[in-house]
Amino acid sequence: MLPNIRTEIPGPVSRGWVDRLALRECPGITARRARRAAAIGASDTDPVVWAEAEGENVWDVDGNCFVDLCAGFGVASVGHRHPRVVAAGQAQLGLLPHAMGDAFPDPRRIELMERLCALTGQDRVIFGSSGSDAVEAALKTAVLATGRRRILTFDGGYHGLASAPLAAIGYHVEAFQSPFRALLGDFADRAPYGTPPSALPDLSTYAAVLVEPIQGRGGMRSPPAGWLTALHQAARRAGCVIIHDEIYSGCGRTGKFLAAEHEAAASETADKPDLLCIGKALAGGFPISACLGSAQVMDAWGASRGEAIHTQTFLGNPTGCAMALAALDVIQDEGLIERAQRNGERFATRLRSVPGVHAVSGRGMMLGVHMNDTLGVTRRLLAAGWIVLPCGESAEALGLTPPLILSDAAADGFVAALSDAISAPTTGC
Ligand SMILES: Cc1ncc(COP(=O)(O)O)c(C=O)c1O
Repeated sequence: MLPNIRTEIPGPVSRGWVDRLALRECPGITARRARRAAAIGASDTDPVVWAEAEGENVWDVDGNCFVDLCAGFGVASVGHRHPRVVAAGQAQLGLLPHAMGDAFPDPRRIELMERLCALTGQDRVIFGSSGSDAVEAALKTAVLATGRRRILTFDGGYHGLASAPLAAIGYHVEAFQSPFRALLGDFADRAPYGTPPSALPDLSTYAAVLVEPIQGRGGMRSPPAGWLTALHQAARRAGCVIIHDEIYSGCGRTGKFLAAEHEAAASETADKPDLLCIGKALAGGFPISACLGSAQVMDAWGASRGEAIHTQTFLGNPTGCAMALAALDVIQDEGLIERAQRNGERFATRLRSVPGVHAVSGRGMMLGVHMNDTLGVTRRLLAAGWIVLPCGESAEALGLTPPLILSDAAADGFVAALSDAISAPTTGC
């Protein structure tokens, strides 16, 4: 459904909620954009407060209808509030909302592990609640499997903000890491994304290479063709574990279930990673993530001796697992992966034709639209009913990660709205 904006943005009801939020939430969390912008003599808007969502749309507390071209940070790939995912969650809530992590499992957790292994060719699973959890589990596994402690990551890589992933990010490193330096391990080195393996440091000194097959927050950047395969081969030779962080790019977003499959399809020698992290879209709106791995690497954990050395209260939560099983069914039954591929190509082509767009990066429904003044364009698009976020180290692109069910009408409407937002006169900022 196309946007329907009835008030100024943000509307009066949103502004009232944001004032209350500002009194109670730690000030470091939700940006009061208007206040921050005023302090630097620029103009920006506070957020709108979301009340309801369905499919490609979000309604705010003022009754304004938006098209969500972020899918709620890439979560709502099957569309917001998909009826089959909601029904699965409701059924599970009526039966067993919660089990007991590492102590007492439930059937949905076991079914989801089986399903994910079948889909990815991996053997073993560690569940978590966030993307950070999955990356943390992967880093621990790599250390156990190799007896080494250093991790190689890439500029522009984003892996979450819990302590271990935070120490390994390559995106806005100074801003994210410097306040917390005292809490961070010194175990990560970084190289430019796409560096030929021959120019990387000696991989035999590393436990793992941690890489996004397509960088998300870093600018929807694909590596050079063949690079992932060459990286795998070099890591294998060096006895170093390869971790793919597909938290953003996974679950069909790029037109394959995993973004790395694009390369595998193009190369006979490409193989799967030792460890794979997925999250975000996995349960269509419920917080659950997974670190999957080969038996060879995962079995380095050894058998639990009763007190698990890695677990959490909500590990493999049954409601999340039930919703994930339903979301995976929807992805398959509605042909969403093929749709992401087909519609993503059409969308990218149309976006490239907009005057002021320098380039469109990414794949499928994971696109970076490169232009000047992305912050101003983002603000003008929001006022017109289109939710987008900038991405890239210097906010050089708009990151589009819409629901994979994005309608042609919404895609075409967005192209027209983007053209207007780029050509509109700028006001401050
Ligand atoms: C590639 C990637 N890895 C990890 C994360 C962290 O996920 P979470 O925010 O759920 O901890 C993100 C989040 O954007 C991500 O894009």
